[in-house]
Amino acid sequence: MTAGRPLTTARLDAMAERGLRSVQVSLQAVDAERSDRIAGTPSFDEKLAIARRTSELGLALTINTVLHRHNLDQVPRLIELSIELGACRLELANTQFHNWALRNRAALMPSREQLETASKAVQAARARAEAKGLTVLFVLPDYYAGRPKPCMGGWGRLALVVDPTGLVLPCHEASDLPGLEFWRVPERTLEDAWRAAPGMQAYRGTAWMAEPCRSCPERERDFGGCRCQAFRLLGDASKTDPACSLSPDHAIVVGARDEREDELVFRR
Ligand code: SF4
Ligand code: FES
Repeated sequence: MTAGRPLTTARLDAMAERGLRSVQVSLQAVDAERSDRIAGTPSFDEKLAIARRTSELGLALTINTVLHRHNLDQVPRLIELSIELGACRLELANTQFHNWALRNRAALMPSREQLETASKAVQAARARAEAKGLTVLFVLPDYYAGRPKPCMGGWGRLALVVDPTGLVLPCHEASDLPGLEFWRVPERTLEDAWRAAPGMQAYRGTAWMAEPCRSCPERERDFGGCRCQAFRLLGDASKTDPACSLSPDHAIVVGARDEREDELVFRR
């Protein structure tokens, strides 16, 4: 996965020789002016160069675009550009409002109309894209969906993340949650760190749940949503994700849909 830099086409060639099989390139928009503005740095041309070289090398190319109100109107052109680049997959990932995106939530929040227009554009283009070998993924953001996503497929259930220090986590953000103990490799085996670390056990399955999740028929499907989102928005990772319309705190998410700020705040 690359933002197109500092990777170079020469390094990409070298990695392909060593057996690299697939590359995901993030694009912020379909034109340099907008992409560079959203990225906060001139990078569009490098992104395109890496995407093109990936296809020339015969590697599987995924384009990933994080969508928000500054680029949702470009969805039809993103599909066309992905076809032109020879991508096999386009992930149109609506912004998840975590970390820095949460700081910028009011500047990134799309309107319902924008989302509906983009969704229709995807449906209209899907058959043509498939015929060109491109699979397009588009999922409504949880702030509008009324139900949360099963974050990471359920805490400690399907996936793990090993951070650069060797800490084994259920998701990228879990080390920010207070009071949870995770273990490191190689001090512990990966299996131990995955199965038995107290933090991994904390929200695994459904036994930890309180109401309304505890008695909800959806609990084995979404596993109560995202623990990190519950912590960021409510200060308590054990609460129902407020993206769920059954959460007593859902008004926080509903209210955020109407927040508006013009300026993005960049991390420097
Ligand atoms: Fe999922 Fe809990 Fe909402 Fe039920 S109440 S849909 S289990 S988040
Ligand atoms: Fe950590 Fe969702 S990002 S559980």
